Amino acid sequence: MTTHSHRPLGRLAATVAFSLFAVSGALADSAGVTFSSGNNFTEKTGEELYANVCAACHMSEGQGAVGAGHYPALAKNANLESSGYPIYVLLNGLKGMPPVGKMMDDDQIAAVVNYVRTNFGNDYKDAVTAADVAGTR
Ligand code: HEC
Repeated sequence: MTTHSHRPLGRLAATVAFSLFAVSGALADSAGVTFSSGNNFTEKTGEELYANVCAACHMSEGQGAVGAGHYPALAKNANLESSGYPIYVLLNGLKGMPPVGKMMDDDQIAAVVNYVRTNFGNDYKDAVTAADVAGTR
């Protein structure tokens, strides 16, 4: 029994608390997705939506990734030729991809679909409209 016995424990508790803080911070960073208010994304433009939602999995240049999962490239992707296909995937999900379109309105889905279909080496000029999205919901 010394008067100093509490000190090492105190330091340990501080270290543990700090590590937990560091870990949860890292997890939040690695998710890479900006969750907007409530359950819905507030970004409006296709570029913002892509950067904050899609890029977490499909990467910033649409190049996709293979590692813990397989994230197909959206760059130069011939499957995007049919404009209804990406709308369908966003609304319904596709195996490993969650239906992120359920957290967007029709204008947002049209914007991000048009963005990926005209960027990253894709050049499909038949833009989709909010009405096209509404008809797919
Ligand atoms: C949580 C990760 C994740 C997010 C976020 C995500 N995707 Fe996906 N996406 C996937 C995976 C995984 C697949 C492949 C599913 C399969 O075929 O197994 C995929 C497939 C697709 C496909 C079909 C590609 C093809 O060649 O058939 C399209 C189109 C697509 N995503 C678009 C988007 C768009 C646009 C966004 C953003 C609005 C987005 N994804 C967000 C993971 C994600």
